[in-house]
Amino acid sequence: MAQNLFIIGATGKVGRALVSQIYEKGDTDPAKNENPTRIVGVASSTAFLYERDGLQKRRVIDFSSRKTQGEGYREPAALLDLLSDSSERVTFVDVTASPEMLELHKKAIFGTEHGVVTANKLPLTIIGPEEFQRLISEPKRYGYRCSVMAGAEAVDKVRDLRDLGDRPLEITGSFSGTLSYIATELEKGRRLSEIVSDAVAKKYTEPDPALDLSGIDVASKILILARTAGARLSMPDIRLSPFVPEGYVVRGDPSGLIRELRRADAEFASMMATARSKGRTLRYIARYTDGAHGPGITVGLTEVAKDDPFGQLKGNENKITVKTATYGDRYYSVEAPGAGVEITAQNIRRDLLYQIDNRTLSTGE
Ligand SMILES: NC(=O)c1ccc[n+]([C@@H]2O[C@H](COP(=O)([O-])OP(=O)(O)OC[C@H]3O[C@@H](n4cnc5c(N)ncnc54)[C@H](OP(=O)(O)O)[C@@H]3O)[C@@H](O)[C@H]2O)c1
Repeated sequence: MAQNLFIIGATGKVGRALVSQIYEKGDTDPAKNENPTRIVGVASSTAFLYERDGLQKRRVIDFSSRKTQGEGYREPAALLDLLSDSSERVTFVDVTASPEMLELHKKAIFGTEHGVVTANKLPLTIIGPEEFQRLISEPKRYGYRCSVMAGAEAVDKVRDLRDLGDRPLEITGSFSGTLSYIATELEKGRRLSEIVSDAVAKKYTEPDPALDLSGIDVASKILILARTAGARLSMPDIRLSPFVPEGYVVRGDPSGLIRELRRADAEFASMMATARSKGRTLRYIARYTDGAHGPGITVGLTEVAKDDPFGQLKGNENKITVKTATYGDRYYSVEAPGAGVEITAQNIRRDLLYQIDNRTLSTGE
């Protein structure tokens, strides 16, 4: 039986890459694939296409590349009502960055037999801690690997350790390619404002670089891992220090922000010089600990030894280390390059494989 997909965010960067990969790799072709995929729905923020027995490839591609419009709609959760004409299970793929998707996640998982695979972090961080645990309780129906490190083995390992009764005691992460890049360039003696200006020009940052510097994205990722480890924590529980102090941050105006950051150049140069004089360096680190005083999360610019696993991190690499009782003095670690759309789309397809009943080995070349 085919795996039915409803892709929400199909007009976005990851959504378009996903649609292309699904067709190019032959996912929909039963002759090439023992576990074929069938796209029954696609949606943007305002429009959708749905066909119970599967949409034609041409219609999906035209919608995804915005050549055609679909029917209008308002709330993502309402898309679930379309499926009342079918008894088959559908997996919703969330490749949006919208908090509104939470209602669809909850409605699908708590109220139906359908599944969800998401790259969107927001539903996982705005939902309450108990509901998060319910959401992830059936791994074959709820896939969220791509919400952290775009599907590198971070979520899986933490989850498996928990299920194996070796709950993570400490998870440390460097999750922002942009902030890693800024820190490594500071290490070379460059000025903060100049580095941020370069990063904006090279499109390493979000269109509004203030979002990267706020550290919110990093905080979201460590929260998802901490919750996966079993912690009942929420965003307000995180001790978050933005990469640059609030006083310098100008939102929605990259040039204004870079001008303001010039006032911080000397302070950052001095912090880096102090670290260097001790054989150390600076990295933007997120850390979850489950110690004697209970679970907690900190996120901020931190001095680390040059030979520390994070001190050695270069460019836009992301990394986590996980400590447990069984690992003792050692730790598990995963390192992966800042993913980009193709790897994210591939790992969404990988997440979908885990939802297939009786998955069999592909006979495709
Ligand atoms: N880009 C990457 O390299 C990357 C890597 C890893 C993870 N991710 C994650 O993947 C997700 C998508 O990223 P992206 O770069 O593809 O974003 P994007 O290009 O901005 O695309 C967002 C998509 O979501 C749709 N959308 C927005 N609000 C919506 C709503 N309320 N209801 C339904 N659909 C809505 C948009 O539709 P319209 O066309 O109508 O606006 C668009 O199709 C994000 O959660 C991001 O964090 C991205």
